Amino acid sequence: MTVAFRLYILTIFFVSRIFGSDDVVCVPAEGGNEQCIESFNGVRENILLLNQTIKENIGKLNKHCQEFEKCSETLKCGAEKELIDLVDDVNAFCEASIFRHTPLFEKCDEKLIARNSTCVNDWNPLPALGDDSLINEDLRKTACNEFFGKDNCLEKEMSEACGVEVWNGFKKNQLALIRITGSCEFD
Ligand SMILES: *[C@@H]1O[C@H](CO)[C@@H](O)[C@H](O)[C@H]1NC(C)=O
Ligand SMILES: *[C@@H]1O[C@H](CO)[C@@H](O)[C@H](O)[C@H]1NC(C)=O
Repeated sequence: MTVAFRLYILTIFFVSRIFGSDDVVCVPAEGGNEQCIESFNGVRENILLLNQTIKENIGKLNKHCQEFEKCSETLKCGAEKELIDLVDDVNAFCEASIFRHTPLFEKCDEKLIARNSTCVNDWNPLPALGDDSLINEDLRKTACNEFFGKDNCLEKEMSEACGVEVWNGFKKNQLALIRITGSCEFD
């Protein structure tokens, strides 16, 4: 399984956190620009729920993310904190998703697979949970501790295979996403 695919699975998990419950936080105040309201209302369908394993969707994702980004200031203007956070979260989601589909990262993914390292093979940022809450808590803790691989091994693995720049971009985006879920705490 490619790193990008595992990240995609993780992404689906993040989506449920962004638009967690059914209560969509609120809708931007009127008087905003029509196009931006539309962009906001389409976030779920056009950005968060897009199936990123389908190649044609990546262009769509880019386009909708760009539109949303351009609208961010308008949407945040005079908005409640919850809405402001939501706009920031969507932008972080966009940035991470787009990064994952850059040629730079895709090439890196190929190199990582070719290396067939234990670090990458064992990396499981989103373990399947069962019924036992104690075991689940352990799994969650392990997943958080090993969010960048066992003993942070992805740093070495990725820096060696793809260069420090790719690692830094990956790390920045993953940290932004994990902040959204609030399920891991990092210092
Ligand atoms: C995304 O699309 C792929 C290929 O069509 C499909 O196999 C997969 O089930 C889809 N994933 C979701 C979450 O719909
Ligand atoms: C990857 O490494 C494992 C041993 O760690 C080996 O059994 C397997 O054949 C290797 N796979 C490839 C595709 O090289």
